[in-house]
Amino acid sequence: MTHPLGAVDYTTKIPNNVNLADDQRVLKALEQWHPGYIDWWNTMGPEGFQTSDVYLRTAISIDPKGWAKFDYVKMPDYRWGILLAPRHDDRQVNFGAHKGEPAWQEVPGEYRAMLRRLIVIQGDTEPASVEQQRHLGKTAPSLYDMRNLFQVNVEEGRHLWAMVYLLHKYFGKDGREEADELLNRRSGDADKPRMLGAFNESTPDWLSFFMFTTFTDRDGKMQLESLAQSGFDPLSRTCRFMLTEEAHHMFVGETGVGRVIERTCQAMKEAGIEDAGDIAAVRKLGVIDLPTIQKKANLHFSLSLDLFGSEVSTNAANYYSSGVKGRFQETRIEDDHLLTNATYPVSKLVGGKVKMVDEPALTAINMRLRDDYVGDCSRGVERWNKAIEKAGLSFRLKLPHVAFHRHIGEFQNAKASPAGEVLTDVEWAAEKDQWLPSKADGDFIESLMQPCWERGKFASWIAPPKVGIDNKAGDFEYVKIHQA
Ligand SMILES: [Fe+2]
Ligand SMILES: [Fe+2]
Repeated sequence: MTHPLGAVDYTTKIPNNVNLADDQRVLKALEQWHPGYIDWWNTMGPEGFQTSDVYLRTAISIDPKGWAKFDYVKMPDYRWGILLAPRHDDRQVNFGAHKGEPAWQEVPGEYRAMLRRLIVIQGDTEPASVEQQRHLGKTAPSLYDMRNLFQVNVEEGRHLWAMVYLLHKYFGKDGREEADELLNRRSGDADKPRMLGAFNESTPDWLSFFMFTTFTDRDGKMQLESLAQSGFDPLSRTCRFMLTEEAHHMFVGETGVGRVIERTCQAMKEAGIEDAGDIAAVRKLGVIDLPTIQKKANLHFSLSLDLFGSEVSTNAANYYSSGVKGRFQETRIEDDHLLTNATYPVSKLVGGKVKMVDEPALTAINMRLRDDYVGDCSRGVERWNKAIEKAGLSFRLKLPHVAFHRHIGEFQNAKASPAGEVLTDVEWAAEKDQWLPSKADGDFIESLMQPCWERGKFASWIAPPKVGIDNKAGDFEYVKIHQA
């Protein structure tokens, strides 16, 4: 049976559908963690807008048809809740050595360290992106975009709560210590950095933000999808609900980049420019040229590929065999879900060339998830290309080869072009500014980052959205700015 959709309890300080009121130990632990979180939000959250009224959605239920409500909220007053997708009593472990056993409602002792690590790594990414994006409000190209940024930020905050709940509820003292550490690390900090590379990079401008939400939040989606398969049921249920919110983050990214492209194409058309490579002429129009958009995509895509870890990984094999982390859409795959004898093709560097080599499917779990991710990304790029095509331009965006600009895995020591040719260091140094954003590109984009906060108005370099949030009219005041 399915438990009735848990009504969300708003009487406790922490809204939840996990019966916190009857779980005094965990409620106390979370209430003790809460002031540190608010302190973190006030110092590391969106800079300058903590007293503004933002038209935000808040998760109030887990009913897919009506889970969110929209209203003006000051961000520090946002109700960060703990919401898990409904429990199914007959759910089983669906892969690995325990396949067919009832899903675990408690942490199996032998997998405790593994599960804790996975939860901490996921949890660490959530506040990291808020830290990376905290300066962007000041240069928002519209109130609509500013509101979307803050929506993503508060939801990443809620995702942190989600992981912290699991740590407090299921991991005792070390869980509490890990939860505290999640508030102590800082994105980009030399001494206490966040755990993963892409989450220590800066997000200097809005195009970076849109690329980040397109590519890096999509890695988040893939990780959540595979954790949603976990035999540890509370983790699975937590991740399933997070995925509902995550979809909006990728929407913000993909339509954000799409609107930048739309505006560029429109300005080129009006000026009669057909050659997308005439960068100087395009930039004079106050829009971002398509080759620079390609470079930004190259950067964020390659940084996000690193988040999948090494292509061949015994850790990933162990996670899978133990039943703690599955594959993308595990239950829809038609195989034995044990992978004892299966193989999977892995891209590797062999004799200076990129080749596909069959590896045991168990150790190639990361590679497979990355392939699913690349497929998902390329569908997004195709949607962008449709807009360029519609504008009558011959330019097309393209994802770079997986060997391009990598810092983790098979290609970390290779220098490869976006086409996947392996280069010498000299060749790489000569070409790299054509493939990755240069200082000059960054300076140009920065020059465009002028705030545009008038209702219904948009900065020169971005087109308005097709539809408003919550179906609001074009001049809706998404943020009532009272700057701190
Ligand atoms: Fe998240
Ligand atoms: Fe996200």
